[in-house]
Amino acid sequence: MSTNNRTTVAEALAARQSLENIFIQGWIRTKRDSKGFSFLEINDGSCLKNLQVIVDQKVPGYKQVQELGTGASVSVSGRHVESPGKGQNWELQADRVEVLGAADPETYPLQKKRHSDEFLRSIAQLRPRTNKYGAMARIRSELSFAFHHYFHEHGYYYIHSPVLTGLDCEGAGELFRVTCLDPDQYSADPQVMAEDFFGQPAYLTVSGQLTAEVMACSLGKVYTFGPTFRAENSNTPRHAAEFWMIEPEVAFADLGDIIDLAEDLIKSVIAGVRKNRQEDLDLFARFVDKELNRNLDNVLDNEFVRLPYEEAVAVLKEVRGKKKFEYPVDLGTDLQTEHERYLVEEHFQKPVVVYDYPTQIKPFYMRVNERGNTVAAMDVLLPRVGEVVGGSQREERLEVLQERMQDLGMRVEDYSWYLDLRRFGTVPHSGFGLGFERLLMFLTGVHNIRDVLPFPRTPKHLQF
Ligand code: 4AD
Ligand code: MG
Repeated sequence: MSTNNRTTVAEALAARQSLENIFIQGWIRTKRDSKGFSFLEINDGSCLKNLQVIVDQKVPGYKQVQELGTGASVSVSGRHVESPGKGQNWELQADRVEVLGAADPETYPLQKKRHSDEFLRSIAQLRPRTNKYGAMARIRSELSFAFHHYFHEHGYYYIHSPVLTGLDCEGAGELFRVTCLDPDQYSADPQVMAEDFFGQPAYLTVSGQLTAEVMACSLGKVYTFGPTFRAENSNTPRHAAEFWMIEPEVAFADLGDIIDLAEDLIKSVIAGVRKNRQEDLDLFARFVDKELNRNLDNVLDNEFVRLPYEEAVAVLKEVRGKKKFEYPVDLGTDLQTEHERYLVEEHFQKPVVVYDYPTQIKPFYMRVNERGNTVAAMDVLLPRVGEVVGGSQREERLEVLQERMQDLGMRVEDYSWYLDLRRFGTVPHSGFGLGFERLLMFLTGVHNIRDVLPFPRTPKHLQF
């Protein structure tokens, strides 16, 4: 049901029989005039396709229609009839047209040609009115729903972790500060901080994990799905300062359990969007990435390779000579995107889960493995986008965790509440973070994270 009595274009096009007299509202995509008639292609965002509207010269409003062009908004009532034209089953024979808002054809930025992604980014206020970005917005919505659906079906509770925090979960120092002090007052001096809103330094969260752990250690299986913020000054096609993360956290689960979960979850949400948003996805398969369907099948049809970090490094060292990496590969250092992509796209040619990373490159909360030099961490790598998921088994042993925090120079007293989970009824537990935009990039074949977010926030860009 729509909120007024308007029929959506999607409903009009999907009808099995005539809906008789209907009323639609939308934006003109194109207009053609022929003798005594005008043909309008109307889009209202409900689906990719437009509804053809035929306006006879006798129809009230015809004169105004003739002055309209692309981008104008209209209300049309008329008869929903079978279309003799090719490529559509239904059309609308108008018996009344009302202009809601004209759009000056001289200055309307969306002309009937293909615009570059860069240009469209500069007009984010109109970008969703194009086929590609309308489809992107609908797929984004569908993918969100697919995540909620999966967790709901599997007995997880949706929890809300705070956006304002005093802690740096990842310990990488990529925090945005939040303050109410005047810029010229602000300083890290504790006496000044005491005057600030929270009486201590405050930040936008980089991850909801620590509070998700609290909830998992009471409720069993939970997930968050919210915005996260990172002041990484890396101007890459895969990093945004504000992005959305899905973070399941599971009590009584070990690393293998959440690798299974990540694989099943990714396959399930991709299949779900494919089922419900076929038409929109086809646009991306035709115009954005010709390999898209092959890549999606590859993920759906293959078991993900599970590869210890040490073996990943061995594989990458082997290829030296055959291929030149920009960054060196060495035991103890993190894998770069080029290394991840080599493993997935060339060596294995399917998704890869790398696990058991060196302790020294990972955050404090990851469970230390028996030999001490590695932690029970895992990253899921997909073709083209590289890392989509990062997660771990959490350190549930109080002494080991405290020692690790001290070694890292952390203020253990700030985490007393977190350590209580280990003091009182500690349990093995594990979780991960899935980068929503990274998965959306993979799903649509879009290369730049700026084109999967409606209003991307990246270094030096805070427009809209
Ligand atoms: O690997 P990350 O940093 O993991 C965590 O934050 C954990 N605390 C999550 C957890 O265990 N609950 O981030 C998780 C994922 C990455 O794999 C990547 O897909 C995405 O978040 N990500 C970004 N996506 C877009 N822009 C950025 N700047 C991103 N940084 C991370
Ligand atoms: Mg990571």
